[in-house]
Amino acid sequence: KTYIVIMAGGIGARFWPYSRRHKPKQFLDVLGEGRSLLQMTFDRFKEMASPDRFIVITYGKYLDQVKEQLPELDENQILCEPSRKNTATCIAYATYRIYSKDPDASLIITPADHLILEGEKFHQVMHKALRASQHGQRLVTIGIKPTRPETGYGYIQYVQEKNFDVLKVKTFTEKPDLELAKTFLKSGDFLWNSGIFIWKAESLISALKTYLPDTAEVFEDGLNSLNTSKEAEFIRNAYALVKNISIDFGVMEKSDQVYVIPADIGWSDLGSWQSLHDIRTKDPDGNVIDGNTILYDTKGSFIRLDNDKLVMVKGLENYLIVEENNVLLICPIDSEKEFRQFVADAKKKDSRYI
Ligand code: GDD
Ligand code: MG
Repeated sequence: KTYIVIMAGGIGARFWPYSRRHKPKQFLDVLGEGRSLLQMTFDRFKEMASPDRFIVITYGKYLDQVKEQLPELDENQILCEPSRKNTATCIAYATYRIYSKDPDASLIITPADHLILEGEKFHQVMHKALRASQHGQRLVTIGIKPTRPETGYGYIQYVQEKNFDVLKVKTFTEKPDLELAKTFLKSGDFLWNSGIFIWKAESLISALKTYLPDTAEVFEDGLNSLNTSKEAEFIRNAYALVKNISIDFGVMEKSDQVYVIPADIGWSDLGSWQSLHDIRTKDPDGNVIDGNTILYDTKGSFIRLDNDKLVMVKGLENYLIVEENNVLLICPIDSEKEFRQFVADAKKKDSRYI
């Protein structure tokens, strides 16, 4: 049986001030098409699994928003984390939870912050990945052809083999520095990790036992509590013990069981203002505009307001202007790296701003 696990507990700091702590980007309709990123993720898999095979794992405070946005799910399909311990922990929790009921389960793990334009192709790739994941203890990921030396992604080097579309991974490098990312891009042997993982529950558990044994031990000890009335208490204790690490650093970089399926599925990570700018419709000068503006000599910018204030701008290039509730942010649109600092500094002023 196949289960779809949607990871929806991030804070979306790089989308601040639109993405806020009480309502991060996965719950926002960032494309303005009437569905949030979480709902779009659910829709994408609806054809592949019935609603009772979905698990959404999120930070506890977001339970009500998940319930409201996905009324198709039963409350016990929404796993609430007491703190943020990153994706390795969140994947371990979801995997052990499913495994304790169905030891033969296969999982598709998906982030909630992606856009995939080619739905039909995407489904074909998922079916192929599920088939590939049944051999041995494979950890399968989907690889995307890189287009720029992005440092926010994982890079996958694979073994070139003719006539194979499931390729053995040679190296996995999570979030390289710019220098290394440029080298990877130039060499042409690398793919971006899409962040969508496909494996049998038992394969991941075996990888956790090898590469994150402390995490595995905590969950093994509580296996009998999962799916019972003791689950919440066990999870509170477990989360206090486990270390904060991503699946990419914790498992994917280390395992020799990683396979990649290269796929051209119109993928983008809606991780930042720049990435949203890339995919949105632009005016002839390359500006994305959500609001009431008069622009002169302004190019490549993103202007977004949550009210009907008139914004007049002259002489800006590649800038972001975003007003949301009590925050107005103006910065170069490629300031991605600085957002954590922005949010931290705003919080120091007053927590109402984050
Ligand atoms: N429940 C839960 N708990 N979800 C989390 C947590 C957590 O502690 N941390 C992150 N998430 C969710 C986010 O909401 C997002 O949907 C997904 O997990 C991935 O986390 P990100 O924080 O967005 O990861 P990333 O974008 O930096 O990197 C990953 O994705 C890239 C592609 O988008 C990695 O897998 C990279 O290798 C990959 O290239
Ligand atoms: Mg991301």
